[in-house]
Amino acid sequence: AYIRLVRGLTDLEEELAVKLRLERVVIIPGDSQADAAVQRELGRAAAGVLSQYLGDNMTIAVSGGSTMATLADAVQFSAPGTTVVPARGGLGEQVEYQANTIAARIAGKLGGRYRLLHIPDGLSEEALEAILASDGNVRAVADMIKRAHILVHGIGQAAQMAARRGLPAETIREITARGAVGEALGQYCTITGDVVYVTNSVGLRLADLTGIGRVIAVAGGSSKAAAIVAVTGAGGQDILITDEAAARAIQGII
Ligand code: BG6
Repeated sequence: AYIRLVRGLTDLEEELAVKLRLERVVIIPGDSQADAAVQRELGRAAAGVLSQYLGDNMTIAVSGGSTMATLADAVQFSAPGTTVVPARGGLGEQVEYQANTIAARIAGKLGGRYRLLHIPDGLSEEALEAILASDGNVRAVADMIKRAHILVHGIGQAAQMAARRGLPAETIREITARGAVGEALGQYCTITGDVVYVTNSVGLRLADLTGIGRVIAVAGGSSKAAAIVAVTGAGGQDILITDEAAARAIQGII
């Protein structure tokens, strides 16, 4: 245990990258759930990583969430050729945390452009197909999302995200009963990475991630550890930006 305590975060980054099968893990010190300053730091770290991978004229897809909002706050570089799109449609979150809002804010900071999705997630498959068939603008944005060079997204605890999105109590029970602990992009995953519930969307699903150049997840706090293991286990992730509290808790799980 002593050796663990004195070991630096760099070793932990390498250990988690191997165990979670990721190209890269970035860990910032502290606990972003307990400390607003650490949460801002997580956003800064994510903005820094984004700037490293962002080339000319790229398309970035972004999810919503409070963590992604801190990334938007932290962007301090310009990349005028960039187009930012929401990874998915609206999910019943408060407007500050919706993917459309985050996309527009990041585009504003970069001096780039944005394209938004004005249809909610959670519609029936038939309704989504009807919209895609009749609306060329939605189709164009959906295509851009699926071919994004970079996706940056948050990860949430399954039950919490289901409740935050206003899913019916019965559905939340079902999601939990199926063993979901983590959520990303409206997909609810078990600790072993099985997707057990999906909110329909014209946007991205975990299965589409192979078409995306680079997938960056940003999530911190020890209570998100299982969620992070679940979502990375589902595959398609390249880079994880997290905090020490989550990283140590993940170490205890895998
Ligand atoms: C949502 C994303 O908006 O934010 C989810 O669509 C993610 O995929 C969630 O799980 C995380 O939210 P927060 O507020 O914990 O960063």
